[in-house]
Amino acid sequence: MTLADRPSTDATTSTATGAVDSIAAAQTSVDVTAPAALATAKPQTRVTVLPHADLCPQGAEFDARQGRKLVDALLEHGITIEHACEKVGACATCHVHLRAGAEAITPADDEEEDQLDAAWGLDAQSRLACCVKLKGPTLVVELPRYTKNHAREA
Ligand code: FES
Repeated sequence: MTLADRPSTDATTSTATGAVDSIAAAQTSVDVTAPAALATAKPQTRVTVLPHADLCPQGAEFDARQGRKLVDALLEHGITIEHACEKVGACATCHVHLRAGAEAITPADDEEEDQLDAAWGLDAQSRLACCVKLKGPTLVVELPRYTKNHAREA
């Protein structure tokens, strides 16, 4: 017999029984494998990285939590993109091209646009990976052949 099964004889027992019932209810209501638990998980973006001779010769594909910075998602998946200013949008070494899926991403602000002016191989789909927060179901990323630093050394 558990405490919850015993008949209530006074206010203390009644309170204790209520607490046990609450705990038991809480324990049975949490099931991490239940669809409801999965439904509350953060949405993911499927990121495709096109092949790059040095950083990602075979290309890559992975899921990353929406709201994360693209630069962090790339680094986390072994793509060692430069990030000389430590991801604060002040160096343009994390320049990427968003080849598909960019319509879901917040557009560049003036500061990012100013930094992009210094990037190697700039085009209309250029962004700074440290300024891009993942959003939308898919994103296709192309890494430029050179970074600003490499282009200066070449
Ligand atoms: S890491 Fe410097 S601009 Fe992105």
